[in-house]
Amino acid sequence: MILMNDIIREGNELLRVKSVDVEIPVKEEDINLLKQMLEYVHNSVDEEIGPKYNLRPSVGLAAPQIGINKKIIAISAYDEKGRLYDFPLINPKILSYSDELTYLKTGEGCLSVDRDVEGLVHRRKKIKFKALVLEDNLLVEKVITLKGYLAVVFQHEYDHLQGILFPDRINKENPFFVPSNSTPIKFAGEEEND
Ligand code: NI
Repeated sequence: MILMNDIIREGNELLRVKSVDVEIPVKEEDINLLKQMLEYVHNSVDEEIGPKYNLRPSVGLAAPQIGINKKIIAISAYDEKGRLYDFPLINPKILSYSDELTYLKTGEGCLSVDRDVEGLVHRRKKIKFKALVLEDNLLVEKVITLKGYLAVVFQHEYDHLQGILFPDRINKENPFFVPSNSTPIKFAGEEEND
């Protein structure tokens, strides 16, 4: 199983390499890697397994974070309404996105970034991509449209495949700058007027 020691950190050049497409037909080892990555994300938020192995809670992991520069991403995250989605993805390719932007009011974090980074990351509010999705042990080519929080998580992980880390995307002069076309993500239960 993947542990924190397997995850490389900021400063390691492998995080800056552009990932390559996974070879088609997809090999068993790549599918196994994807499964292990999704398992890490699940384990990391498990009440028992997480603390037992000192896993930092996460909603996504990209293969470059374990030093493998292939286009493989595992996401497991709740949307704004509290519904859980798993996205085990191979070779994601962005098809289109909105001009509108969105951001997390609390900023972003990353298993590969140990320091606290202040500032906002503005991302596309809506994004459409295609990918091979692992479903019931089968890879299915799908076109997926995500918005809001799930779109943010996807873009964060997709950035890893491009060698980009979230601090790169924070406005250096004014880290809390909000462009006029960007609105914050609102989770269910949050006050409307905050
Ligand atoms: Ni990250």
